[in-house]
Amino acid sequence: MPEEVQKGLEDVVALASRITFIDGNEGRLVYEGYDIRDLAERSTFEEVAYLLWYGRLPSATQLRDLKERLRPLREIPEELRALLARLPASAGPMDALRTAVSALAILEPGETKTGESSIGGALRLTAALPTIVSEQNRRRQGLEPLPLRPELDHAAHALYLLTGREGNALENRSLDVALILHADHELNASTFAARVTASTLSDLYSAITSAVGTLKGPLHGGANERVMELLRAIDTVDRVEPVIKEKLARHERIMGFGHRVYKVEDPRATILRVWSQRLGEAAGNLRWYDLLRKVEEVVHREKGLYPNVDLYSGSVYTLLGIPDDLFTPLFAMSRVAGWTAHVLEEYEDLRLIRPVAQYVGPNHLAYVPIAERPD
Ligand code: ACO
Repeated sequence: MPEEVQKGLEDVVALASRITFIDGNEGRLVYEGYDIRDLAERSTFEEVAYLLWYGRLPSATQLRDLKERLRPLREIPEELRALLARLPASAGPMDALRTAVSALAILEPGETKTGESSIGGALRLTAALPTIVSEQNRRRQGLEPLPLRPELDHAAHALYLLTGREGNALENRSLDVALILHADHELNASTFAARVTASTLSDLYSAITSAVGTLKGPLHGGANERVMELLRAIDTVDRVEPVIKEKLARHERIMGFGHRVYKVEDPRATILRVWSQRLGEAAGNLRWYDLLRKVEEVVHREKGLYPNVDLYSGSVYTLLGIPDDLFTPLFAMSRVAGWTAHVLEEYEDLRLIRPVAQYVGPNHLAYVPIAERPD
């Protein structure tokens, strides 16, 4: 029996997977053999979802078929719409999403047979998540849900649902790229949670409910919201240096920097930096980009830290008109492709995930009857 505890399971190889490869020293991220830079340049979210689910890029016909299958699955059942309408306005979007995925499992029992490696549930959840997030977000503001727009592709449709307006080509493409970049990231905490749930032979929807609950935690999802908070507080480029230095002197962490796996720049940050600039230029608003460039310069000089995916993503979403508290649900809308791919992979080669703990509590205590225990 191993004696040493690897806190946080850091560097523990927990399972074999063919889905995603990360080289943290070279700054490479690879889905099913394809470099993320090629996928972000040339692919679409639907194509990447197909790649993660089937292990190969689709032909033109296969991609068209996938899109046709996804479109009707954007509609959610009346019972779920009624549930979302009844949630208190104070419900956070991630709490609502977790509840909705769990409720959908009850409403669609055909998709939730335990331990089945069906692609149907993966498609259903990927198509339905934007509708769920949009509907709850509007209901909590006293707004009616938006009519769905079947003619729009996934990213364009998600942007329309989150903002209530149709994006232009540049905006739609920027969200498409962000969805591609977030679609999978090997054994991150939420994906691991999904695989642990699936490894008990539980169903796909239960696994994704676990994943949504895990992504909700601020150490996993949510750093980009805090980057935007920081930028708003800093306000002007000349204040970046003193504010960051002060934070570092207080040993505070600067959100959007550092990574457990990447020891160089996160390749997703490199790509999103370009999109932040492009969108800023198109909007005539380089405020966020200029602030971020300066923050990067100061943090690298002072701490030698590199940006992670969360540094620039918030500025991209803000320029698209997406509110801060929908950033993590948006992450879920993309990562659901990876979560479901991992659950399907888990079912193919299933072994109950059950590590061991090093016991550090007392042992061999004599039992004292309750009447004899001191108050
Ligand atoms: N700001 C300041 N210092 C930092 C930061 C940061 N963002 N990240 C790491 N460090 C410092 C730590 O203080 C520590 O310094 P020390 O050795 O002097 O104490 C050293 O770098 C190592 O840090 P660890 O916490 O051991 O590194 P770990 O691999 O556990 O942390 C993590 C990775 C959690 C992402 C960390 O870098 C962090 O907190 N970053 C800010 C939050 C963030 O941006 N999260 C999003 C990550 S991407 C994603 O999940 C989608």
